[in-house]
Amino acid sequence: MSLPSRCAERPASSLAIGGAVRPEILRNPFQLVDLQRRQVEYLRLSVTDRCNYRCSYCMPAEGVDVVPRADLLDFDEMVTLTRLFVQLGVRRVRLTGGEPLVRRGIVDLVRQLAAIPGVDDLAMTTNGHLLANLAEPLREAGLQRLNISIDTLDPRKFAEVSRGGALQPVLDGIAAAQRVGFASIKLNAVTLKGLNDDALLPLCDFAARENLVLRLIEYMPIGVDAFWGPETWLPVAETRAQVMAAYALEPDESGEIPGGGPARYWRGRHRQTGQELRVGFISAVSEKFCEACNRVRLSPTGTLRECLSARGSLSLRDLLRSGATEAALTEAIHDAMAGKVEGHNYDAAVPTLESMSAIGG
Ligand code: 5AD
Ligand code: SF4
Repeated sequence: MSLPSRCAERPASSLAIGGAVRPEILRNPFQLVDLQRRQVEYLRLSVTDRCNYRCSYCMPAEGVDVVPRADLLDFDEMVTLTRLFVQLGVRRVRLTGGEPLVRRGIVDLVRQLAAIPGVDDLAMTTNGHLLANLAEPLREAGLQRLNISIDTLDPRKFAEVSRGGALQPVLDGIAAAQRVGFASIKLNAVTLKGLNDDALLPLCDFAARENLVLRLIEYMPIGVDAFWGPETWLPVAETRAQVMAAYALEPDESGEIPGGGPARYWRGRHRQTGQELRVGFISAVSEKFCEACNRVRLSPTGTLRECLSARGSLSLRDLLRSGATEAALTEAIHDAMAGKVEGHNYDAAVPTLESMSAIGG
């Protein structure tokens, strides 16, 4: 990947450690670049580890332990750290959870983040359960884009997959979001063999009718228990084939769909009705996309996660609370970039136990 000219790139010097030669991390004051020379411009900020759902692909049935409130970043800390990342070249911020809408004061946080110069794109991923009442204040506070999770349109299956979630509030949330005019609304569905693989075409038809972009997400082996396995994992190739049986799709190269994430977008028309569909496929396991990774994550307790698959070792919260200077924080973030591995090694056969709700998707 080539670096933009703004970067005063120093020649990649090397460090000899124990005889081995290791490339050194670039320390540009305006950019975050990892050892693979991937530039970070996207921050996923997980604002809470709590969630009002218990999705079967995200956490075990009994839920997960939540961290004490005092350990969570407060809004001032989130704003300070976001400013710092923006100075380092981050342009896009997404609020995730857990479920971001259960964090008290979330609209205020959105307002503060939207006011940071340099945050060009402020988005949120939500399960939509509390969205009907919050869509308007969130939009008004400056949230630009929304991704709403909806795995099936069958109310009984929806409750089963989300373990206690309810379809209607989510549909109401989607409708409210459409009314208040977000710059983009996408629907996210994790594809699960035997659970919603018969629900994908109704979801496509719904998205097409409502003119929303649908993203079909391959199940990743994260935070899983007995639920994970060949009985539930559905490779993206099968999902795509299923959708293409009903819709004549072509890869969408228009670049019109905002996000710049790992989804590969397709566009086309229903073979019978002619209704137009825009659909993205996200396949972290069977078609890895790590070479284009442009993101880091901040956990609800302020730990920097350089990769979805890394637990993260840098507590920016602890540094902040011990009075570290901005220069020291910046230095620590540059150092942490050395931990951004070339790619995750999630494998359909090797699940990870940490729950996705603790990571922020
Ligand atoms: N695999 C893939 N996606 C997941 N999500 C949660 N858990 C998983 C998993 N194991 C995604 C869902 C949800 C978002 C918050 O995270 O798409 O929309
Ligand atoms: Fe909650 Fe989202 Fe996880 Fe479902 S996928 S349990 S809504 S954090």
